[in-house]
Amino acid sequence: MIFTVAIDGPAAAGKGTISRGVAARFGFAHLDTGLLYRAVGVKGGDPILAAKSLTSEDLARADLRSLHAGQAASKVAAMPEVRAALKDFQRLFARREGGAVLDGRDIGTVICPQAEVKLFVTASAEIRARRRWLELGGEGAGAIYADVLAQVRERDDRDMNRADAPLRPAADAVLLDTSALSSDAAVAQAVALVAARLGRADL
Ligand code: CDP
Repeated sequence: MIFTVAIDGPAAAGKGTISRGVAARFGFAHLDTGLLYRAVGVKGGDPILAAKSLTSEDLARADLRSLHAGQAASKVAAMPEVRAALKDFQRLFARREGGAVLDGRDIGTVICPQAEVKLFVTASAEIRARRRWLELGGEGAGAIYADVLAQVRERDDRDMNRADAPLRPAADAVLLDTSALSSDAAVAQAVALVAARLGRADL
């Protein structure tokens, strides 16, 4: 069976948790496409060359989730040649046998416009920054909330205003605002949507 779930949205909206939950529930493969851009961003040298020659070691680096990697990712992600170099891999993944969940910024709009389910996950910038701040270890780890909020806003701005594949919901995407939802509730809503589309409402 070919079945793609496209999950897009801004930084720290809950895409990762929802994607992992949906993939586990239906036995689909999951690709966090942000990791590709993060790996290109931190690799150094020419980003286009880096995107064309990404290795599994690049994708296993321990620092890919850092704030620095997020900022570096959103800079290289504005380059059309970088996006083009990563496109085929994502498209093949999306249409692999057995079902796939991809999360990112342009999955429903550019990578897989034919996706069977499209979700656009959002939450207020303050709530997203707080979640990212807690993920980074909060005050105990020396993370500064105001800095995290500023970086989230800067990245959103760059992602929404770039010319190539800007962050925006596909016309047929279902919007899911997770501001007031627990992660379990957000996953449950996404699972219900996928189940309905699969025609297996008993799942
Ligand atoms: O986890 P978080 O939502 O903070 O970020 P991410 O999904 O890891 O993405 C990091 C950066 O990569 C984003 O800010 C985008 O600039 C870029 N990105 C993109 O342009 N297209 C994608 N499909 C995924 C990520």
